[in-house]
Amino acid sequence: MDIAAIIAKAENTHKLAKQEIVALLADDAHTQEIFAAADRVRRRYVGDEVHLRGLIEFSNTCRQNCHYCGLRRDNTNVVRYRMEPDAIIDLARKAKEYGYRTVVLQSGEDPYYTVDILRHIISEIKKLGVAVTLSIGEKSRDEYAAYRQAGADRYLLRIETTDRLLYEDLDPGMSFENRLRCLRDLRSLGYELGTGCLIGLPGQTLESLADDILFFQEIDADMIGVGPFIPNPDTPLAAAAGGAFTSSLKVMAIIRLLLPDINIPATTAMETLDKNGRMIALQSGANVVMPNVTEGDYRRHYALYPGKICVGDTPAQCRSCITGKITAIGRGISTGHGFRLRKTAQE
Ligand code: SAM
Ligand code: SF4
Ligand code: FES
Repeated sequence: MDIAAIIAKAENTHKLAKQEIVALLADDAHTQEIFAAADRVRRRYVGDEVHLRGLIEFSNTCRQNCHYCGLRRDNTNVVRYRMEPDAIIDLARKAKEYGYRTVVLQSGEDPYYTVDILRHIISEIKKLGVAVTLSIGEKSRDEYAAYRQAGADRYLLRIETTDRLLYEDLDPGMSFENRLRCLRDLRSLGYELGTGCLIGLPGQTLESLADDILFFQEIDADMIGVGPFIPNPDTPLAAAAGGAFTSSLKVMAIIRLLLPDINIPATTAMETLDKNGRMIALQSGANVVMPNVTEGDYRRHYALYPGKICVGDTPAQCRSCITGKITAIGRGISTGHGFRLRKTAQE
């Protein structure tokens, strides 16, 4: 296949057939051209501003047992913590003081936080005037409805992989059908929908990554976060090879080409593999960064994978670090809430 022609088609029509996506993923000779095209599409559709989201990792306790994740319930090498509701609200207040216009509340699937507790946390944080993103796993439709009513704006739930068998193999006790049900419920309840996948899972093929990308288009996701799978020594996948930085970047860039106006974060896992990973991602299609505002030892204990960046830094250090890096690549920081702006190219 003519790779240059496929890149041009993606850049101009934002549509590719599965085999064309596979051809891009398999090709090593035109990687920089794919990144450059994604950067142009990013600029045309969502502009030069970078949206910052302050990430609060409020509990590392999880009832699930995903094979790839350090927070899985069978991992006894993790010091488990739960932040109290007032402490979470306090941290959200600080996030606002740091200038973040969105707060992302992320945790393991932790039943300690009942619907009433979460409703209280969300509604108190909404009083600050920030957008609220939840990333707390699979819940019932009624629970999602209750959080939405309390003011939650967005929800982040990665499909992880659209390979149904692989998903159920790596996420024991979880069903692919229920994951889809969650995404459909979130969409119909009016959340901005964030999803994404891991790159480099054992058994994952280029065909299945192409399916992931087409799935994101089909469900019309508002935000897609992709990152390399990084093997954690305390999990069943300790000996797996893991994902590579460039392949993750390539999947991300193709997503920008095919979903031109969505929000795409430069993920923490990318920077874990390359010390300039988030800035390279911002120059290859991404327009969002999620700096950590979690305080103290909690950062270290939220140990999904080894080598996670910023574990020894404070929220203030991350804030000034990220401002410096974004400014240095000639991009500005948005002062808006950073909702998806459905639009055509800014010509
Ligand atoms: N528990 C919620 C969930 O699973 O949706 C939210 C927290 S979970 C830790 C957030 C994301 O971390 C997951 O969607 C997964 O893609 C990512 N993750 C887990 N283990 C990882 C690993 N070893 N390498 C890279 N990312 C990982
Ligand atoms: Fe729990 Fe999420 Fe980790 Fe799975 S990925 S073990 S649900 S924290
Ligand atoms: Fe945390 Fe750079 S973003 S130290």
